[in-house]
Amino acid sequence: MASLTPIRRIDGLRDYVRGQRAEGRRVGLVPTMGALHDGHLSLVEAIGKQVDAVIVSIFVNPIQFAAHEDLDTYPRHEAEDLEKLAATCATAVFAPSAGEIYPTGFATSVAVEGPAMGLETDIRPHFFAGVGLVVTKLLLQALPDLAIFGEKDYQQLLVIRRIVSDLDIPVEIVGGPIIREADGLAMSSRNSYLSSGQREIAGRLNLVLRELAEASDPPDIAEAKAHDALLEAGFSAVDYACVRDAETLALPDKRTARRRALIAARLGDIRLIDNMEVR
Ligand code: PAF
Repeated sequence: MASLTPIRRIDGLRDYVRGQRAEGRRVGLVPTMGALHDGHLSLVEAIGKQVDAVIVSIFVNPIQFAAHEDLDTYPRHEAEDLEKLAATCATAVFAPSAGEIYPTGFATSVAVEGPAMGLETDIRPHFFAGVGLVVTKLLLQALPDLAIFGEKDYQQLLVIRRIVSDLDIPVEIVGGPIIREADGLAMSSRNSYLSSGQREIAGRLNLVLRELAEASDPPDIAEAKAHDALLEAGFSAVDYACVRDAETLALPDKRTARRRALIAARLGDIRLIDNMEVR
């Protein structure tokens, strides 16, 4: 199994992509913040079916964390990540320093509205500016044919699609299905923060989400029931439990063709999010 030596510099990344293109190979990008789990690895394998070369970026993006959030404690396991990737179809890893991405004097932002409004933004107002900027930079640095993002962060996926369309970035964005633990808990690097008691409660989130997605009650009643069920299951707070238009995240109405149920709930300081198609 060939081990992967991370590319640290943007120039090196561009050289790599140029080399692949010169050989007529299509390139895919899987942006991550590392601490890779099976959900990430499934994105690598999924995009690997559509391209010839798969670059995985590993970068814990400081500007998508607020001062009170977990930037300092966010899990960082680069050596383990490289080992896991060596067993996949990944062909290169881009793991730049914060200084490479945000050199001294950096002064540009990406502001996005539309699907970024509400839900996560109500709780983490800084978040999509941070994600939008780093993803825009990564896409422009690599200019892959395709880039893939997990549907677990559903609002993030819609925001990225919006930015790519609005800024005419010539990259196709693909969504990868949510990968779940045996009890339905969506895989997330932050699940490693859960104590065993919290882990048990966390497994209930998916059941409540399913009930919300399948409810025949009017939306406000179904949402209130989901909210109460999460508190009863032991969650300490519910940021949202709602059904929205799957394309815009606006409140659905009679014309809405596709709906998505979305939940964000907390166990102490740990926030869990999940979502599901309403059929
Ligand atoms: O979903 C993530 O891991 C991050 O938000 C992303 C897209 C890699 C940007 O830092």
